[in-house]
Amino acid sequence: MTKINTVGVIAAMQIEIDALKARLENSETVTISGIDYVSGMLHGKKVIAAKCGIGKVFAAICAQTMIIHFAPDCIINTGVAGALNKELHICDIVVGEKTVQHDMDTSPIGDPVGLVSGINVVFFENDKNVADVICKSAEKLGFAHRRGIIACGDQFVADSATKEKIVKNFGADACEMESAAMAQACYINNVPFGVIRAISDGADDGANMDYPTFAKIAAEKGIALTDEFIKNI
Ligand code: ADE
Repeated sequence: MTKINTVGVIAAMQIEIDALKARLENSETVTISGIDYVSGMLHGKKVIAAKCGIGKVFAAICAQTMIIHFAPDCIINTGVAGALNKELHICDIVVGEKTVQHDMDTSPIGDPVGLVSGINVVFFENDKNVADVICKSAEKLGFAHRRGIIACGDQFVADSATKEKIVKNFGADACEMESAAMAQACYINNVPFGVIRAISDGADDGANMDYPTFAKIAAEKGIALTDEFIKNI
């Protein structure tokens, strides 16, 4: 098991990462391709925190750049997600066991839905040690959590038909728009990867109402758990 001295943390939006950036001691910022990478110390570890922007392309650009410029020992994606599993409630945590790109689809030419051609992956397995430490950290904080499959795509899911299709295709527990793109960058570079997502909405017809109401409080839970993970890893 690699010793983790340097942790990269990436989130899509400011509300999902700014409070963590503010906690970094002796911080320095480097801007690359318009993304600010803030590095500094937290709980004796070096942390690089970045807001990548929304969607898979920004997520992959950010993870790849972080790997090349900062060589983190692992990367964590923190943020909010829509619930696909009926047992998940607002602000519950989903700890990624696997991630999948639900909008990747070359099935008309015979591939399984979700397959990333070339590397032949549908589900990107997250690092087991990282996921274990995230779960232990959630227990310490008393946060309701479950390990699960996270489906990622360039789409805010806000209707039952789309939600059911993602569940049927992948058995996913939560949906969002960045994790599996970062997972792909980590996979091709052999960097351990983990996902912490707090539920902000039900990815259904009420999602456009729930999301603005709960995104901030859910994002804060994700940051609190990321901080505890850095302490415990
Ligand atoms: N992030 C938070 N809620 C989401 C949803 N319903 N769809 C996609 N990404 C999300």
